[in-house]
Amino acid sequence: MAIVTEFYEKFREGESLEAKYTPEVIIFDEEGEVDAFAAEFVIDQVAKKEDSVLTLPTGNTPLGMYENLVQAYNFGQVDFSNVTAFNLDEYYPMDPNSEDSYYSYMRKNLFDHVPVKEWHILNGGADDPEKEAQRYADLLSVHQPIDLAILGLGPKTTCHLAFNERGSQVDSRTRFVTLDPETIGVNSQLFVNPNEIRTGALTQGIADILDAEKILLLAKGVGKAWGVNRTLKGPVSSDAPSSYLRLHPNVTIALDKAAASYL
Ligand code: GLP
Repeated sequence: MAIVTEFYEKFREGESLEAKYTPEVIIFDEEGEVDAFAAEFVIDQVAKKEDSVLTLPTGNTPLGMYENLVQAYNFGQVDFSNVTAFNLDEYYPMDPNSEDSYYSYMRKNLFDHVPVKEWHILNGGADDPEKEAQRYADLLSVHQPIDLAILGLGPKTTCHLAFNERGSQVDSRTRFVTLDPETIGVNSQLFVNPNEIRTGALTQGIADILDAEKILLLAKGVGKAWGVNRTLKGPVSSDAPSSYLRLHPNVTIALDKAAASYL
């Protein structure tokens, strides 16, 4: 998307980034309303363009959205058979068949229930993470622009998007990354055995995310309140990768009351 590329050039020339757009922020009383809104957002997108290309998140936040999407599919309210989906990230190293992998998460919560045209995810079991990142970057570039990227927000003060932790640059692309200690602490609790948490991951870059035509960021719970506030206020800078969303002209942020409580 040309509009964002201009920022990559400024950044490379050493200029500080200025927020250019204000995301639309929608606050719901209940978590379930965020889930329903997010599912409706996806259904509308696919209704408007049946061969939509979507970027999909993992984590606790989108579970309700996926549940609503599976239900809508079962009721014949949406057809994903022409949709292409790309996941944001995957732990590395990670056997895709492990219960802890994002591959397993996506199978369990969406793709075992809903057929799509194509689904792509970074392979945590690949021998060479650099080569795997390049394979995925090449695949993504063939499908750009993504029509809709759905994102969650990193825990605590990380403000990460996918696994773009603090320090990630605006023009970053798909790559191997080392996880932030705060991410490791929170995400280990989602592992069957918390001691098996990984310290590394493969992730789409900030530029891959900002290349999408439209972005939907979801956040629920008071644990995201600090990050939501920092996403929207303060400088657009690498100490809060989610602040880069203010460089994009078409961002919607759906929150429950708790996540919006520091705004
Ligand atoms: C994880 C994922 C992100 C996700 C975020 C939020 O670390 N890599 O893509 O959006 O953290 O997770 P949760 O929804 O569980 O809070």
